[in-house]
Amino acid sequence: MKIALIGSGGREHAIYWKLKQSFNSEVHVFPGNAGIPEEDRIKEVYQGGNFSALKEFLTGNQYDLVVVGPEQPLVDGIADALADAIPVFGPEKKAARVEGSKEWAKSFMEKYGIPTARSFSCNSVEEAYEALEQMPSPYVVKADGLAAGKGVTVTESIKEARHAVQDCLERKVFGESGSTVVIEQFLKGREASVFALCDGTKAVPFQPARDHKRAHDGDQGPNTGGMGAVTPVEYIDAKMLNRIQTEVLDRAMKGFAEEGCPYKGLLYAGLMIDGTDVNVVEFNCRFGDPETQALLPMLDEDLAELMMQCAKGELKTDFLRFRELASIVVVVAADGYPGSYAKGIDMSNLLNSQPDNPATLMFHAGTEIDGNVINSTGGRIAGVVGSGINIDEARKEAYAFLDSHSVERTFFRRDIGSLP
Ligand code: AMP
Ligand code: GLY
Repeated sequence: MKIALIGSGGREHAIYWKLKQSFNSEVHVFPGNAGIPEEDRIKEVYQGGNFSALKEFLTGNQYDLVVVGPEQPLVDGIADALADAIPVFGPEKKAARVEGSKEWAKSFMEKYGIPTARSFSCNSVEEAYEALEQMPSPYVVKADGLAAGKGVTVTESIKEARHAVQDCLERKVFGESGSTVVIEQFLKGREASVFALCDGTKAVPFQPARDHKRAHDGDQGPNTGGMGAVTPVEYIDAKMLNRIQTEVLDRAMKGFAEEGCPYKGLLYAGLMIDGTDVNVVEFNCRFGDPETQALLPMLDEDLAELMMQCAKGELKTDFLRFRELASIVVVVAADGYPGSYAKGIDMSNLLNSQPDNPATLMFHAGTEIDGNVINSTGGRIAGVVGSGINIDEARKEAYAFLDSHSVERTFFRRDIGSLP
């Protein structure tokens, strides 16, 4: 099977790594990063933007399947643009609104009875301030559109909440993505991410993962795209999984079908779990990063085959098998991330050292190669994955590798896998 994988982050390196293990697969990444062998990277054809050159290339070179990694091209309609030429793993534009517009996602959830926090969508500062008055502290302020995981402010200070409203609506920090803000009730509990493979009709879940979105230890500091993840999640039992299936995934699949955009691809449910209570914090229209880096090494299935079945609308299984191990990923980021940070950091000490132990894996995120030197190009630069018989053992593997390959001007969290 000849597969075109779109994207350049840690998620795409992990998907590439897993797809390469599929029977008879050939995988090319558009454009990929320095973790992908040069012969499997195609850099010129698509780096964002117009889909027509990509379509022409894929049909001219007999690709069998397109797998779309990031949200932006899905929200921009890449699946719609390619669908008549080639099977696509990824939802059409109308369905991708579930991530592309928080306002749309909230009304979708309300319409189809999917549990979620109470919220108001506001287009003016006055309206947003009024909504804040009606919510108890802590306050949650979200830019409506895509903001690379940085459009959400959670704060106990009304002053900071109002500042976040002004950032979106007046200072346009997130451009058009922030022209509507969503003010949401704060949900307490512990987070979990449940990914599901979807074929338009049914959603078959991965085992849950837990992401750590705050930049610093103890879940402190600003929200990021994700600084580390763990799987499985000990506070999700079979009963809770069953509720997630029926109240979240099945209702969402019914909703997408009724809205005229049956969902094909990966549906990501970001959940808040509080005792026996579950609420959806967000839906995303693609694999999560970094959770995917911890999850895919645990998946005991042929991923290419499953993705093809989803793209064709005929997923044959109702259950995914996972290895009976625990897995964690720790993200190495540039100092300053998610604020401004340096690029061009020489990462060779870490990234030129392949782990020699099968319990440790390394995925590249924002990297490029220049001769023999691997330089950073993004805020999140790499993910180190450890696996073991339990989370403690998995932690030991990942952190032992990180501690023996340190890189100046970068940081990582020390507490992934050790928080209650
Ligand atoms: P989102 O981009 O909507 O996932 O939000 C990013 C992060 O902000 C989430 O992963 C949560 O940690 C936090 N967050 C978002 N909405 C809420 C909420 N209603 N209550 C508590 N935390 C939230
Ligand atoms: N790790 C969070 C996300 O991918 O959105």
